[in-house]
Amino acid sequence: MKILICGYGNIGRHIHDEFVELSDSIDIYDPFIERYKELKGTDYNYAFICVPTDMMPDGSADISAVEDATSKINADIIILKSAVPVGTTDYLINKYNKNIILSPEYYGTTQHSESSSEFLILGGCVGAAEKVAQLYYKVKNGGFIIRFTDAKTAELAKYMENCFLALKVTFCNEFADVATNYGICYSELREIFIMDRRMGSSHTFVYADKPYYDSHCLNKDIPAFIRQAQGKAPLMTAVDLINKERRTVNN
Ligand SMILES: NC(=O)c1ccc[n+]([C@@H]2O[C@H](COP(=O)([O-])OP(=O)(O)OC[C@H]3O[C@@H](n4cnc5c(N)ncnc54)[C@H](O)[C@@H]3O)[C@@H](O)[C@H]2O)c1
Repeated sequence: MKILICGYGNIGRHIHDEFVELSDSIDIYDPFIERYKELKGTDYNYAFICVPTDMMPDGSADISAVEDATSKINADIIILKSAVPVGTTDYLINKYNKNIILSPEYYGTTQHSESSSEFLILGGCVGAAEKVAQLYYKVKNGGFIIRFTDAKTAELAKYMENCFLALKVTFCNEFADVATNYGICYSELREIFIMDRRMGSSHTFVYADKPYYDSHCLNKDIPAFIRQAQGKAPLMTAVDLINKERRTVNN
């Protein structure tokens, strides 16, 4: 089985670690890393796209690297791990006539903090998604949940998760401010808050020197979602604004 990893950053390396023992050969293509800058093979069984989708000046996601990778890759199935706007996968399928499954990446957030069961979201054509599921079954142990859906739902699911985490950080910082005004210790307040397991403990810490979110993914995905929402996201627009104000005041 031949696998290609396109984009060898955080996610590309993580995918490599996951599949290195399964594949006869894993090629890496990353035009910005000297030793991987040539795309060697052509006939791959699976190709993972893990390239950046950074923020454009208007807040929308720049999908040029995803498009560049898709146009160059030749694989039976392309698995797109980058966070992309709704409609991107279908657009790429129609334009390049390739088999693409959108599988949002959760590495570094949910799966490695409080979620006990790992899960994989596969968005797109059922036949191809089932083949990707078989591939993952070979490298994962028990307790692994696979959810099949369409590409658009999978695309929006990733934005939904990141928006909720951003909202949670903003919410907790607001309560920390009020707690401070009343001489209440936020750490204790937080401990009580998360005793109710429905609240979930991740993203509830508050840092005095950085009372806002500042992760690469949240910083770009919240504006991308707002842009995508076309005026239908007043809550996330407020969160984005509050975060920018908090960042300015505390820098
Ligand atoms: N880092 C995370 O924890 C995380 C979590 C969930 C989702 N994601 C999403 O995954 C995607 C990748 O994130 P990352 O953190 O791995 O980014 P990264 O910046 O660490 O790595 C991206 C790599 O892609 C390479 N690249 C750029 N243009 C390319 C092209 N045209 N062809 C091939 N390679 C190219 C870059 O040189 C870089 O090495 C993003 O869309 C991000 O939103 C990341």
